[in-house]
Amino acid sequence: MKWETRITKLLGIQYPIIQGGLAYLAYSDLAAAVSNAGGLGQITAMSLQTPEELREEIHKVRQKTDQPFGVNYAIGQHGRKYDHMLQVAIDEKVPAITMTGGNPAPIFDMLKGSPDIKKLVLVAARRQAEKAEELGADAVMVVGQEGGGHLGRSDTGTFVLIPQVVDAVSIPVIASGGIGDGRGLLAALALGAEGIEMGTRFIATEECVHAHVDYKKRLVEGTENDTVVIKRSIGAPARAIANDFTNKILELEKEFGDYDHLKDFISGNANKRYIYDGNDHKGFGWAGQVMGLIKDVPTVAELFARMITEAESIRRNWA
Ligand SMILES: Cc1cc2nc3c(=O)[nH]c(=O)nc-3n(C[C@H](O)[C@H](O)[C@H](O)COP(=O)(O)O)c2cc1C
Repeated sequence: MKWETRITKLLGIQYPIIQGGLAYLAYSDLAAAVSNAGGLGQITAMSLQTPEELREEIHKVRQKTDQPFGVNYAIGQHGRKYDHMLQVAIDEKVPAITMTGGNPAPIFDMLKGSPDIKKLVLVAARRQAEKAEELGADAVMVVGQEGGGHLGRSDTGTFVLIPQVVDAVSIPVIASGGIGDGRGLLAALALGAEGIEMGTRFIATEECVHAHVDYKKRLVEGTENDTVVIKRSIGAPARAIANDFTNKILELEKEFGDYDHLKDFISGNANKRYIYDGNDHKGFGWAGQVMGLIKDVPTVAELFARMITEAESIRRNWA
């Protein structure tokens, strides 16, 4: 069966499946595995400390795959500068750059001399998608409130958000948030999306080598009711696995609701204490409601084969 959409053509990939940026988890192993399976794998640039580290990681991906891949920039991290990190991706002529979490205009400015690099923006609202199109994005990824990690403030679910954005912009739309199997893939295409992005589902794969075994176990054993939205009080809602640590965060949000009281609890270090060490008392890990659909930890290739088989069988039944 043919899986050609404007997204597969734009990115030069076989299947319209993109691995989302995953803070502190998406390095060359996962990125290359996804690209080798026919999707678009990504490195998360801002999880690396220096431009040299990013350059090295890009080289590692190129050693592991000859397929297109992306570099993700989450730019909203409390004023952390990203220009020097972005320059590496430009110099390395990476196939695609995805961006989120802040005003993407300066990134588009820097990318003006790089027409061959595909530019994708992750948004969580129709207006943001329109803005991305105005700036010159090649495609938008749109995340609904089921998703893992940072979300929009309006709590709109993927099923309502995607058709709205599809109607509002003429560039291709990629659906994100709550997708974990072939049914979700096909449903997204039925809504008018031309590709999907998954985050949480890719953490529970063999090649997501940095995720602690207890994090993956929690994704497999947990249900759709085991996530919680934190950071709402500071205007940056984000979905994480509910644990002792997120309970503490919610208490602090109720009591104070300001960044200063929260900063040590929502930091990258607190994130790493859970995702690398599996410590429920000392840290948190992002995850979406789709964890209710995750039942195992396959290889990325197995996951792709299963999703494509499932989606193709639904398509055949419809025909
Ligand atoms: C652990 C984790 C870390 C994430 N980190 C980033 C990030 O650094 N940059 C980014 O653009 N998106 C990030 N996201 C969002 C994902 O790329 C994706 O949009 C989201 O997970 C989609 O929802 P899903 O989890 O239901 O698949 C993260 C999501 C998770 C679960």
